[in-house]
Amino acid sequence: MSIKNINLNNKNIGIIGVGTIGGTLVETLIKNGVVSRERIIGSTAHEDSAREVSQKYGINTTTDNKSVVRKAEIVVLAVEPQMIGKVLEEVSGSFGANQLLISVAAGIATEFIQSKIDVEVPVVRSMPNTAITVNEGCTVLIGGDFAGEEELELAKLIFEPVGLVEVLSEENLMDAITGFSGSGPAYGYLIIESLIEAGVRVGLPRDRATKLAAQSLLGAAKMVLKTDEHPAQLKDMVTTPAGVTVDAIMKLEEGGVRVAFFKAIEEATEKSRKLKLDGKDG
Ligand SMILES: NC(=O)c1ccc[n+]([C@@H]2O[C@H](COP(=O)([O-])OP(=O)(O)OC[C@H]3O[C@@H](n4cnc5c(N)ncnc54)[C@H](OP(=O)(O)O)[C@@H]3O)[C@@H](O)[C@H]2O)c1
Repeated sequence: MSIKNINLNNKNIGIIGVGTIGGTLVETLIKNGVVSRERIIGSTAHEDSAREVSQKYGINTTTDNKSVVRKAEIVVLAVEPQMIGKVLEEVSGSFGANQLLISVAAGIATEFIQSKIDVEVPVVRSMPNTAITVNEGCTVLIGGDFAGEEELELAKLIFEPVGLVEVLSEENLMDAITGFSGSGPAYGYLIIESLIEAGVRVGLPRDRATKLAAQSLLGAAKMVLKTDEHPAQLKDMVTTPAGVTVDAIMKLEEGGVRVAFFKAIEEATEKSRKLKLDGKDG
């Protein structure tokens, strides 16, 4: 198969664990026309949730993970990290080497996943964030030992319709990624929330402040992504000499905003590393 001809046509996608992130993927795959609902099969731990998920997304569901693996060319593993070992042991014998396994589990290395499966199945580890819900997610992909460019291209086809996709080759950066873009939406919400409060303090109605704060950040983010300018250059364009913005920037710097972010990301990266060593979730 040449990279150019890689597509998801005629491929069945199995999602083991249709919870928050698995469900979001199902929804966005269908909504964006990437895969038709008839080609998706999902599994959950309980019969009740399997029924609910089936009704919600109109897909076939089961609690039998082995049947998901047997029916799908691409299997997405989206159970809680502490369940991964158990689920892999259960489905290990059902995999063929020509399938693709994509894991979204935080803190679970490709080496661990490969070690649990009988055949040399290509594994792609991914770290999406919740903004995939609105097609503005960030997903980082890392290929395991048996995953080549074709498998990474297939994984891209799944995540690109729901946002930015970056492929990395250093798996040891995944803890930093987890604490950076995996948690990223939370940092954005905190900034927006702080701006809203600040706006209300100077007399803006809360609903207006909410829209204006969110749109200001969206605009700034788009300027960074769509122009080739450095963020500092873009900031300089807003800060008129002796104007309003530069006074605000001075107060933010006085409050240690940059150092706060340095420390926050360092802390989140360390926590991801530590939780992994403890065998818990990221
Ligand atoms: N949420 C995020 O922002 C985010 C971001 C990036 C990555 N992730 C990763 O995504 C994965 C899922 O997280 P989540 O937040 O979506 O969790 P979640 O909402 O708790 O969903 C977990 C799903 O897995 C199912 N499940 C549990 N054990 C199972 C088993 N033995 N066989 C089949 N299905 C099973 C659950 O079924 P029942 O409902 O029947 O229990 C549920 O559908 C985690 O590994 C996490 O690290 C999450």
